[in-house]
Amino acid sequence: MESDSSYVLWECCRFTFLSVYTVFKAFYYVLKTLILKILPRKEKSVADDVILITGGGRGIGRQMALQFSRLKPKHIILWGRKEEPLQKTTEDVQGLGVSCSYFVCDVCDRELVYKTGEEIKNSIGDVTILVNNAGIFNGALVLNDTEENIQKTFAINALAHIWAYKAFLPGMISQGQGHIVTISSMLGIMSLRGASSYCGSKFMTTGISEALHLELEEYPNIHLTSVHSYQVQNDMFQHLKL
Ligand SMILES: NC(=O)c1ccc[n+]([C@@H]2O[C@H](COP(=O)([O-])OP(=O)(O)OC[C@H]3O[C@@H](n4cnc5c(N)ncnc54)[C@H](OP(=O)(O)O)[C@@H]3O)[C@@H](O)[C@H]2O)c1
Repeated sequence: MESDSSYVLWECCRFTFLSVYTVFKAFYYVLKTLILKILPRKEKSVADDVILITGGGRGIGRQMALQFSRLKPKHIILWGRKEEPLQKTTEDVQGLGVSCSYFVCDVCDRELVYKTGEEIKNSIGDVTILVNNAGIFNGALVLNDTEENIQKTFAINALAHIWAYKAFLPGMISQGQGHIVTISSMLGIMSLRGASSYCGSKFMTTGISEALHLELEEYPNIHLTSVHSYQVQNDMFQHLKL
């Protein structure tokens, strides 16, 4: 009986600590974002950059392609599985006067990622800004979720980031410069009921990019940015049932 009550007390303390820690961590990131927004900063030129956006045909990836176009980079490359949205966004970017091409590439297919990476290097040049954006949302309680869905979520949202690092980071290292952008989520730093594999996959990208940041300390001109955005009004979370 006594050990039961001490266990409950311990669990309450642990839960309270984790909750407070999560709230402080979220608060830290929000504050950091606000400060970085307020402080005047020199805008980075992307005039010589070859930018690859995975999942660039639609959603946030498409919007990033259009925003990058306004900065007039050397070339934008879009990846995705469906040709139609890729073609549409490519044409829209070209319409803004920016060189753009697309490749149908499933980011889960490791060998295809490496092969397409080689093709890009030979035909366009080294990718200097990699935006790991492709992602899916899997909204299910863990016991109701299928093994296939769980594996797919981790394969697209997290493992695919590593395949892309392996394909493009050596080029950045040999040039001594580059930028890797990870599109994570608020759910990569705090959890949500009904989104266990999504949260797990996004926490994984947070861990991977933080560790990569340490690995790349000797290359001061290779930058890493991890984006933890809140919910965006689009199709991604339409099936979420809390
Ligand atoms: N929407 C939000 O509220 C929100 C909030 C925080 C973070 N995010 C993150 O932002 C990123 C983009 O999300 P979104 O809202 O733009 O979602 P979306 O509209 O559903 O778009 C997802 C994109 O990922 C691509 N994609 C999915 N699986 C792929 C695969 N196996 N290989 C290659 N491309 C693949 C899709 O292209 P195809 O279908 O053609 O393959 C599409 O371009 C995701 O990483 C997401 O987790 C979103």
